[in-house]
Amino acid sequence: MQEENQPVKDQGAIGGENVKVEFEDGIAWVILNRPHKRNAMSPALNEEMVEILEQLELDDRCGVVVLTGAGDSFSAGMDLKEYFRETERKSQAEIAKVRRTATNWQWRKLMYYSKPTIAMVNGWCFGGAFTPLISCDLAIAAEDATFGLSEINWGIIPAGNVTRAVAAVMGQRNALYYIMTGEPFNGVKAVEMGLVNEAVPKEKLRERTVELARTLLSKNPVVLNAAKMGYKYSRDMPWDTAEDYLAAKQQQQISLDPERGRQQGLKQFLDDKTFRPGLEGYKRES
Ligand code: COA
Repeated sequence: MQEENQPVKDQGAIGGENVKVEFEDGIAWVILNRPHKRNAMSPALNEEMVEILEQLELDDRCGVVVLTGAGDSFSAGMDLKEYFRETERKSQAEIAKVRRTATNWQWRKLMYYSKPTIAMVNGWCFGGAFTPLISCDLAIAAEDATFGLSEINWGIIPAGNVTRAVAAVMGQRNALYYIMTGEPFNGVKAVEMGLVNEAVPKEKLRERTVELARTLLSKNPVVLNAAKMGYKYSRDMPWDTAEDYLAAKQQQQISLDPERGRQQGLKQFLDDKTFRPGLEGYKRES
């Protein structure tokens, strides 16, 4: 509880030259902010993103992260000049560090992030941008956003774990088709292939993303975290290991839950008869 007359703690601004962070009712809008370079991900942007994700984990203003891009792009992928060409002259150790910084946020941190994450694909989305896109829990795209696994077009393969990320959400036929042809596709096709959850007209993109974020914000955050971690870690386990892990995860979640959601849910359904869990969430005390 905030003591009377004690000023609300100002947690300060987050973000830097390459990434903007805006807070709005529990949503942290993380905006890749190099529109003049179509939000291509440079080493400096990657360093900022690592820092931002670290900070947002501890920031009460952030209940859900929405990752998007400034202007008409989500991200044109890795920065072909600053990430590729300019690092060619560097030592192996320096190159490894630059790569590690990129993948640290693009999948290591984001894939298992402690808070829910939504990618809002507002426009161009190419190559390296697929890794953070797929690492986000959910994704909504503009119908006319343009996606592409363009690496083949300029003489490399989709590394940076792009191929692995694609294999996690797209079936083999579609994955290989787009990896091998480099053909662009739109948001509607991205939904059809399971790359994003939904595609909406561009003018509805923000509204629908906010609506989805609010749904996530209305859930018990301890349970939400355990549910997504449970999915992400168990999907590559053998069934017997997964069963044991999920049972342990469930116990961990119940013991960590300050709201005692499970007891609340059982009581409200079985005793109070005030809700139906098949159709809605239990009533959380605000
Ligand atoms: N890396 C570095 N710079 C990039 C970039 C990238 N991935 N994508 C775009 N840019 C830069 C361009 O070099 C240009 O810079 P300049 O103004 O200094 O010349 C600026 O962004 C605008 O690019 P432009 O091609 O003129 O914009 P556009 O709106 O006509 O086309 C794209 C947008 C995204 C279709 C096009 O820029 C493109 O194909 N980018 C590369 C996409 C890609 O293959 N990414 C995979 C990387 S892993």
